[in-house]
Formats: sequence, C-alpha cells, structure tokens
Amino acid sequence: MTSATSLLFFAIHLACISTGNSSESFVKLECKTEYHGVYGQQLILGCIVKPVVVDVTIITVTWKRMGAAAKADANLLEYHKEKRELTPGFTFAEPSWNKKNMNVSLLLTNTKMADKGEYECMVTTDVGIATATISLSVTAMYKSPTMSSSPENCIKQNTGVTIFCNSTGGHQKGLIWWFDEFGTNCTGSAELVAKKTDDTLFSLSSKLTVLKATYSGSTNYSCTVHNTNGVQEGKASFEIPFVCSAGSKDDFASDSTTQWLAPVGVIGSLVIGLLAALLIFKRRSVQRARRQSTFPLMSHSGHPTDRHHDDEAEGNAILTV
Ligand SMILES: *[C@@H]1O[C@H](CO)[C@@H](O)[C@H](O)[C@H]1NC(C)=O
Ligand SMILES: *[C@@H]1O[C@H](CO)[C@@H](O)[C@H](O)[C@H]1NC(C)=O
Ligand SMILES: *[C@@H]1O[C@H](CO)[C@@H](O)[C@H](O)[C@H]1NC(C)=O
Ligand SMILES: *[C@@H]1O[C@H](CO)[C@@H](O)[C@H](O)[C@H]1NC(C)=O
Repeated sequence: MTSATSLLFFAIHLACISTGNSSESFVKLECKTEYHGVYGQQLILGCIVKPVVVDVTIITVTWKRMGAAAKADANLLEYHKEKRELTPGFTFAEPSWNKKNMNVSLLLTNTKMADKGEYECMVTTDVGIATATISLSVTAMYKSPTMSSSPENCIKQNTGVTIFCNSTGGHQKGLIWWFDEFGTNCTGSAELVAKKTDDTLFSLSSKLTVLKATYSGSTNYSCTVHNTNGVQEGKASFEIPFVCSAGSKDDFASDSTTQWLAPVGVIGSLVIGLLAALLIFKRRSVQRARRQSTFPLMSHSGHPTDRHHDDEAEGNAILTV
C-alpha cells in the first residue's frame, strides 16, 4: 500500500474519531472463545489483531481476568506506550513481541485451577480499538499410578500381601479399579482413601489385600485410575514379589555371605583342631622315640618317603617316553 492510501485511511480514522463514530471497524480482534486448560501445563489464549488496513501499530494491549462476583478484575498483562507490566505466570505468547506484531496471544506458563474464568483482551491501535472475551476452564488429570506392596518383597507362598495403588493430581475425587491377571474385577475387595493434597487437588490410595498369594493364582495385578466421570486417566500393573527383588540385593548378599561363612568357619576350626591334635600326637611320638633311641627317628623324618616319591616320578617319566 502506498503512503498516499495510508494517509487517506489515517484521515478517515481521524474523521471518524472527530465525528464520534466508532473506529472499531478498522481493526478486529479474533480470539477463540473457549479454552480448556490442564493444571500444571502451559496454555496459550490465542488472539490476533486483524486490521482492515496494513501497517498498523499497536499502542496498548490489556489482558485481564474478569472478577467473579466479589473479586475485582485482575490485570495480567498491560502494554502501554512501549512499557509492559506482567503478572508472574503471564506473558505474551510471542517471545519477542513488539508493537508491529498482531499476535497478542497470552501465555499462561503454569496453569492453575484458580486461572479458570472469563478473560478480556483489549487492544488499542493507531486505527482503532478492539476487545474480545474468552472463557477458560481448567482440569487436572490423575498421574499414572504407582504401586507397592507390604511386605515389600520375599513374599512366601500361601501368605497374605497388601498391594497399594496410589495416584495424585486429580481435581475431583477419582476412582481406582483393580483387576487380576485373568481380567477379573477385584475392585470390590479393595479399599480406597481419597485425600485433598492442597486446596484443589486429590491424592488417591487404594489397597487390595490378597489373603493367600500363590504361584498358581494371579501373580500380576493391575489398577486403573479414573476421574469422577469414569474416564480412565492412568494404569499400572504389579507382579507379586515372591522372590527377593534387586532392591534388597545388599541384604540378600550379606545374608548369603553369612550363610556361606558359617560352614566355612566350622570346617576351618575343625581343620585347625585336627592339625593341632596331629601336632601334639607327633610331638608325643617324637618324644617317645627320643627316649628309646635317636636312630629310628631318621626313618620318621620324611626323607626316605620323599626319595620313594621321586623314584616313582622318574619311573613314570621313563614309562611315558
Ligand atoms: C501466535 O503466537 C503463538 C506463540 O508463538 C503461536 O503458538 C500461535 O500459533 C500464533 N497464532 C497465530 C494465528 O499465528
Ligand atoms: C501408597 O500409599 C500407602 C498409604 O498411604 C503407602 O503406605 C504406600 O507406601 C504408598 N505406595 C507408593 C508406591 O507410593
Ligand atoms: C469393576 O468394579 C467396580 C466396582 O465394583 C465397578 O464400578 C466397575 O464398573 C467395574 N469395572 C469393569 C470394567 O467391569
Ligand atoms: C502384568 O499384566 C499387564 C497387563 O495386565 C502386562 O502389561 C504386564 O506386562 C504384566 N507384567 C508382567 C511382569 O508380566
């Protein structure tokens, strides 16, 4: 567009203002009217300024959350004459937004339950003003459940075990269902406790008691977590730890070494005892021999037997050659 036409539009714009007519027809703000946010996640409330003319400059942008009955409106983002004021957690969605950027979308960096409500975006440009409203609902989903058992491991056959299935993060009281490895619904035998972790979120803990755990029965149990409408939001499964798991490896190792060391110790002391007995016996026989004569001692000294062994070795060598 030429500068002449822009000038013309500018002239019309001025004329409109002077005649008191709304200049809103020269600029429109297009926003999606409904958003569904998720607790703890980022969310962009998208709004684009659609000017009828080109080369529009934005003068002010205001994003506010409209106050519910008692509460006052909260200004979340204000851009006015090159200056911006931001509330922590809210910013322009465009990282390097400037007054020529028609994308005035709002970014919620960490959506909270309290962020739900009506939002208003107002933009003033050099060719007119536009406003739009958006409604935001926020939900919180349960996280994938974590499972554990009591006792933790080394469960013996035909003994009882309690399995836990825990999940947090839902914004309404949820449900936990249980299934054994054959697909049987065992929810009826489980006990669910729901607690509020803070003002808005819930934690669920369900325990299923297996009275007699056996290898031939179900050894693998699954649990599913559902929101208040019954929609599944997570699933986990758990194998009954009959064996001592890797987690207790250290205990197991030290246990096995002590089990190992015990017989070694017994055998060791037996060997030492025997040696001692042999030594005493030998000393006594030596003393007895000395008393009789010094000569027979020579035959006891082992030399003759050594000789015998050597001869045998030589004989073998000759035989094999
Ligand atoms: C506006 O900017 C945001 C953030 O960069 C982007 O996600 C969104 O798609 C943009 N909207 C349009 C219509 O370009
Ligand atoms: C689940 O919750 C129960 C009861 O609060 C607790 O004893 C158990 O350790 C928890 N298990 C996990 C895996 O968090
Ligand atoms: C499992 O049992 C629970 C409680 O008895 C029930 O509400 C649920 O619908 C059952 N789920 C399935 C898949 O059968
Ligand atoms: C337990 O069962 C689930 C499905 O119900 C399966 O995905 C999982 O692999 C099984 N775990 C083991 C260790 O077999």
